Amino acid sequence: MQSNSRRQFLRFLAASPLAARALGQAPPTGAGDVLSIADFEAMTRGKLPPAHLGYLLSGVDDDLTLAANRQGFQKWDLRARRLVDASKTDMRTEIFGTPWETPIFLCPVGGQGAFHPEGEIAVARAAKAKKHLQILSTVTSHSVEEVRDALGTAPWYQLYMPTTWDGTERMVRRVEEAGCPVLAWTVDLLGGRNTETATRGARQDTRNCVSCHVDGVGSLASRPMLKGIDVGINPREANWSYVERLKKMTRMKLVIKGIDGAADARLCRESGADGIIVSNHGGRATETLRSTIETLPEIVDAVGGRIPVMIDGGFRRGTDIFKALALGARAVGVGRPYIFGLAAFGQPGVERVLDLLRGELALTMRQCGTPTLKDITSASVGKRI
Ligand SMILES: Cc1cc2nc3c(=O)[nH]c(=O)nc-3n(C[C@H](O)[C@H](O)[C@H](O)COP(=O)(O)O)c2cc1C
Repeated sequence: MQSNSRRQFLRFLAASPLAARALGQAPPTGAGDVLSIADFEAMTRGKLPPAHLGYLLSGVDDDLTLAANRQGFQKWDLRARRLVDASKTDMRTEIFGTPWETPIFLCPVGGQGAFHPEGEIAVARAAKAKKHLQILSTVTSHSVEEVRDALGTAPWYQLYMPTTWDGTERMVRRVEEAGCPVLAWTVDLLGGRNTETATRGARQDTRNCVSCHVDGVGSLASRPMLKGIDVGINPREANWSYVERLKKMTRMKLVIKGIDGAADARLCRESGADGIIVSNHGGRATETLRSTIETLPEIVDAVGGRIPVMIDGGFRRGTDIFKALALGARAVGVGRPYIFGLAAFGQPGVERVLDLLRGELALTMRQCGTPTLKDITSASVGKRI
């Protein structure tokens, strides 16, 4: 833990313009100079006001699930093969019949106006330029229609279910009309949460938060996708019959986001869900869970290839992504990494984050002798004992 904090401090120094000057290094002047997701994180720490930084970095309680997501990757090693022609890498994949150039997608992250004035629009432009799948949050700062126009195609839509079926139906119709092909219902926040780190950040903030968060653009009521829906979100009484009802309500594919183990993965399949996102909300929902990468093998096993399994949580390196692909994930999502890029540089920052992750994944594929995604199998990783 101590050496982790030291490493984080050194990373902060490395990305801090003052420290860089003191060390005789040029600070990053543009997104292209930033070397890693960790360096982007360090830049973000110096850039955002404490309340917004706290919101971004927060887990719940003591942030143990958040830490577990990162630690989980260290439980697997790579198993490299040599003398395979990997001069050309191909990371194309397909989800619900749509081809993608890469398995890396942008997770739904709410309220991106808190990180950059262009928020989800800048992210959509980056996703379009780099050809990545974007999932838009229900609590987005920009409407699904605006984001669709910036992205050039409708994004997947993440649903925080309104607390009435009438509200849910109105939201579903709106995103269907916008052309969204997939609805990803987040089911891991129905019981509430204790985001202590976020609260501590907000208490350090000396700005007048009330003017924005009570009546202004930061308030939940002002979010464009909640306009006209005069009820709350995340019904506590929801159960598995809701999946069946939601599925019947829409022609969109239905993905369940927030699955944490084999038993629920089986229920997803039996309830008619079209796909699963293995996720613990980036450690922001339930404390002391396993890392998502540790839960992945049992979930892949439980669905037996019948529906695609996607994953997010703590992915910061190409090697992390490679491990998830080896353990059976169809696609891998990042949340905070692209927000670090957004906060630091806007659209070019998001593009650089995507380039870094893609570049690192291609490098790992070459070095492991697995030039295509099909070549990455369970034999490409080994569990540490
Ligand atoms: C600031 C922030 C806001 C988020 N907002 C949402 C949201 O609105 N809906 C949702 O389903 N998940 C939300 N998430 C969770 C992400 O979709 C994703 O599961 C998580 O960020 C992945 O972990 P990572 O940040 O370590 O990559 C949010 C995450 C962060 C960090």
